[in-house]
Amino acid sequence: ARSTAIFRGHLVVIEGLDRSGKSSQCQLLLETIQASRQRARYVKFPDRTTPTGQMINSYLTGQAQQDDHSIHLLFSANRWEAIKGIEEDLMNGFTVIVDRYSFSGAVYSAAKENPDLSLDWAWYPEIGLLKPDILFFLDISSADAAKRGGYGAERYETERMQARVRTLFTELFQRLDNVHVRVIDAGRSIQEVHQAILEGVDELPWDQPLDMTLGKLG
Ligand code: TMP
Ligand code: MG
Repeated sequence: ARSTAIFRGHLVVIEGLDRSGKSSQCQLLLETIQASRQRARYVKFPDRTTPTGQMINSYLTGQAQQDDHSIHLLFSANRWEAIKGIEEDLMNGFTVIVDRYSFSGAVYSAAKENPDLSLDWAWYPEIGLLKPDILFFLDISSADAAKRGGYGAERYETERMQARVRTLFTELFQRLDNVHVRVIDAGRSIQEVHQAILEGVDELPWDQPLDMTLGKLG
């Protein structure tokens, strides 16, 4: 993915628990960037529209069963199949706003308490994907998230699972020393959270080559 082009767009990832406000914040960020006449695009993982994504959707909605490893690799494949398109958009100057990425991928699978599926194992298929210029973690307690209209009926939407996911996000970020992580207090108002995200995005340099990929855990 090495390139000498300058003024590529930024790869901005937003992560967090279910109900932490990720999708609303992605939408607001997209609108703000586009209102300032810059190019931006929104990408959501899992992308349920592809054949891989349809299998993931069947699993999440309880219509299909999957081995824990198998579904994990499908989530990862769902990112790998999209990465060329993301790279092209970045090189064409689009800021790409990504709603969940490899970080969700690793922690949700590792949170299942399957002794054969460690965080290390779960991270491995993500190595080599593009590294975000900045990652915002919308931090909210699993109890507060549950209060926000409650969890839905999809797999993983239980307070016990979300609490484990939150702990594992912290562990993962500690072990990824070259990923630019910014923890955002997501218990605040939508506008306050939006401002905090905008500050982080506005600080990003414009002259970076697109040669950064996710590496091994420390
Ligand atoms: P969503 O609610 O953001 O559409 O995501 C659906 C669920 O899938 C959510 O509980 C998080 C989980 N997930 C994974 O387990 N692995 C992944 O790689 C991703 C992107 C999401
Ligand atoms: Mg959800």
